[in-house]
Amino acid sequence: MDIKGVAVKIAREAGLLLKENLGKAGKVEFKGAVNIVTEADRKSEALIIEEIQSNFPDHGILSEESAEIKAASGYKWIIDPLDGTTNYAHGFPFFCVSIGFEASGKVVLGVIYDPVLDELFVAEDGKGAALNGNPIHVSKTGSLDRSLLATGFPYDLRTSKENNLDHFSNFTLRAQAIRRAGSAALDLCYVASGRFDGYWEMRLRPWDVAAASVIVKEAGGTITDFKGSPFSIYGHECLASNGLIHDEMLGVLRKKTPAAKKVKKP
Ligand code: IPD
Ligand code: CA
Ligand code: CA
Repeated sequence: MDIKGVAVKIAREAGLLLKENLGKAGKVEFKGAVNIVTEADRKSEALIIEEIQSNFPDHGILSEESAEIKAASGYKWIIDPLDGTTNYAHGFPFFCVSIGFEASGKVVLGVIYDPVLDELFVAEDGKGAALNGNPIHVSKTGSLDRSLLATGFPYDLRTSKENNLDHFSNFTLRAQAIRRAGSAALDLCYVASGRFDGYWEMRLRPWDVAAASVIVKEAGGTITDFKGSPFSIYGHECLASNGLIHDEMLGVLRKKTPAAKKVKKP
């Protein structure tokens, strides 16, 4: 089986494992004040790593809950075995498995599977993006005022000044509406498929965004940092949009003071 075939197979298998265990009590460990890992994260990760290693023993693997497996081949799998783990632990059915594949430093394949809706997002560099085999494209919404946006908050938001609450406040006053659904990878797939018009988040990790970044690009979306510079999965800022509202979103991200403070009383 080729790399894409294996990625799709293991995303589906890991997704079904997650779905079967949803709602069943499992041990939850705290990695930080609000950052958890469940037994399901670990089971999904074990399944994925085992299958990659048995098919491609000379490939590297960067996966959220394990030490990186380095390899000289120039091939690296970048895995989030359960994106949306807080949702999962609470039985909120919005989560996915995310599998990105990097060749010589470039992510060339993204596979994301939502087992609840049975939605499989796949994109290959230069070959377009698809949802369950059908091509997808970003939305045509032309103004921020009419846009449905998504975001998330870093796990250290209680202790860091850069906690996204300022941007959240500013965008809330400019967009049609904002959702904080709890899975960065699915949020980005929803930008790719036109369900969201834009998305921003800070301090994400490579496994949150590797697969999704290819899916957004191949669906015709724009993805940069908060200054409009090229996006890197190893960077700390992610702004993704349908392209049409990107400049408006960059303008909002440049503001420092929450707009709410400037609103005049009627
Ligand atoms: C998290 C989710 C969440 C985002 C966090 C991520 P996890 O990943 O994608 O939406 O806001 O920044 O860390 O911990 O569920 O894999
Ligand atoms: Ca994640
Ligand atoms: Ca995770």
